[in-house]
Amino acid sequence: MAKIAPSLLSADFANLKEEIKKIENGGADYLHLDVMDGIYVPNITFGPPVIKRLRKVTEIPFDVHLMIDKPERYIKNFVDAGADIITVHEEATIHLHRTIQEIKSYGIMAGVSLNPSTPLENIEYILGDVDLILIMTVNPGFGGQSFIESMKDKIRRLRKIIDERNLDIIIEVDGGVKLNNAKEILNCGAELLVVGSDIFGAEDIEHRTKEFKML
Ligand code: DX5
Ligand code: ZN
Repeated sequence: MAKIAPSLLSADFANLKEEIKKIENGGADYLHLDVMDGIYVPNITFGPPVIKRLRKVTEIPFDVHLMIDKPERYIKNFVDAGADIITVHEEATIHLHRTIQEIKSYGIMAGVSLNPSTPLENIEYILGDVDLILIMTVNPGFGGQSFIESMKDKIRRLRKIIDERNLDIIIEVDGGVKLNNAKEILNCGAELLVVGSDIFGAEDIEHRTKEFKML
């Protein structure tokens, strides 16, 4: 069964509690929270206070995707807000190994994300340290973009590396994932799919979440 992390970015921001309830009822595995700072990406979303408040209205695990410059400045704030996974961008932190260790020191899962143009080789020496790798299949910053087809090869290559070395790393994919391409992405070796617009833009959000879960 596919693991699904609906991205709150495409939800109705005036009704977050109700929106989260719908994806919970649909069987979503995580809530994907896209934090943007207007510097690392050209968009601004929300930060720890919003996440902290949401933590009180749902039990669903929080998958926090930090699209912010120098994320090491804020790891503790997101841990205190209730993150279960914190993913930072390889391109955004100079001392990636140290940042990963800090996330893990709080007893939560540490993820690293790669932009479409960033090679897998950049994370060669931290493969033994991460719990999750988030392959961006759009350029981060906005929901509703098209899946970049060449990323399928990247997912397959990463799957091969993980299997060959027997590593315990979740492959998560983010950007342009829809009901009509999700199966193929899973077949490339992804395990956890982030879905924004195709879930929160659907007529029946709960039903659409269930459709993804049945893949
Ligand atoms: C993009 C975000 C994604 C986004 C995905 O920068 O990281 O999580 O919400 O949205 P869709 O599924 O619409 O491409
Ligand atoms: Zn994301």
